[in-house]
Amino acid sequence: MTAKSFMLNRHRRLRSSKTLRDFVRETRLHPDNLLQPFFVIEGHNKRQAIHAMPGIARLSVDVLLKDMEMFVRSGGRGGVIFGMSNHKDNSGQQAYSAKGIVPAAIKAIKKNFPEFLLVSDVCLCAHLKHGHCGIVRGGKIDNDATLPVLAEVALSHAQAGADLVAPSDMMDFRVGVIRQALDKNGFLETGLLSYAVKYVSSFYGPFREAAHSTPAFGDRKTYQMDPGNAREALKEARADVAEGADIVMVKPATAYLDIVSMLRQDLTVPIAAFHVSGEYSMIKAAAQQGWVDEKAMVLETLLCIKRAGADLIITYHAQDILKWKLCGLS
Ligand code: PBG
Ligand code: ZN
Repeated sequence: MTAKSFMLNRHRRLRSSKTLRDFVRETRLHPDNLLQPFFVIEGHNKRQAIHAMPGIARLSVDVLLKDMEMFVRSGGRGGVIFGMSNHKDNSGQQAYSAKGIVPAAIKAIKKNFPEFLLVSDVCLCAHLKHGHCGIVRGGKIDNDATLPVLAEVALSHAQAGADLVAPSDMMDFRVGVIRQALDKNGFLETGLLSYAVKYVSSFYGPFREAAHSTPAFGDRKTYQMDPGNAREALKEARADVAEGADIVMVKPATAYLDIVSMLRQDLTVPIAAFHVSGEYSMIKAAAQQGWVDEKAMVLETLLCIKRAGADLIITYHAQDILKWKLCGLS
């Protein structure tokens, strides 16, 4: 058959061999894109499996160091620390106690793995009896009363050696207030990774089992964003950048890739996406049934999060991916 003018561009030409496909691939996943979340608890020699998240556990610091050693050996270079407290109250004091579990974990990790990029989640929900992300007054989540407490929490993590503090509470102005507190205390180089765009989401379910942070009353709809809103994401993210956020995050990831893409086009700061607990659990559950190919599905999912515009991806799959010694789809 002679080529007609519309037949010059054979799209399949560039797909004809693996080598060629590899050379023309636009986006690649790299170990440096991946941050592994770690749940840390008080005590010694503790590993508490999380039922809804196969392969993930709450760990005491000694066990955490062992797991982290494996992670680092397989090429892991960064993680996010979530602290769980046995001593919950209504003031959030446990969240910023210098003797608290998160500062202890940060110090131990930094001592053993000084190069490891350590992000600490800054919130109150795991430390407050009612499980909300802010201080409750008169039955409401009091934005401005929460700000100084969050600043104390962030400061305690910075003092322990966190590279980036990551407020996940969604109170207004917390980025500015935290930045000021860090600067005033000389932590000019401690970065701020803001959970700028965090939606109210059913995908957080398994995390709340892990962190025992399900709200005892009401829901998080007065502070987390409505899934129907996209323009509001721009408003939130621009405000956080103006307040001093170094990196902004979108959360959850897969159902919100339009938001990742929109922020990528609007902002110059790096964008992070959190592939959250429920997104992890869905893949794990289907894989356990033998219904999907876990490795292929994980790599495709994360590659697409990166293609949408995320520079950093927080994912519970990071340790598996590095263990598989795979980053690319073949
Ligand atoms: C709490 C917090 C949540 C997550 C991170 N920090 C849950 C929530 O807002 O209820 C979700 C993480 C995940 O689901 O993996 N501030
Ligand atoms: Zn919270």
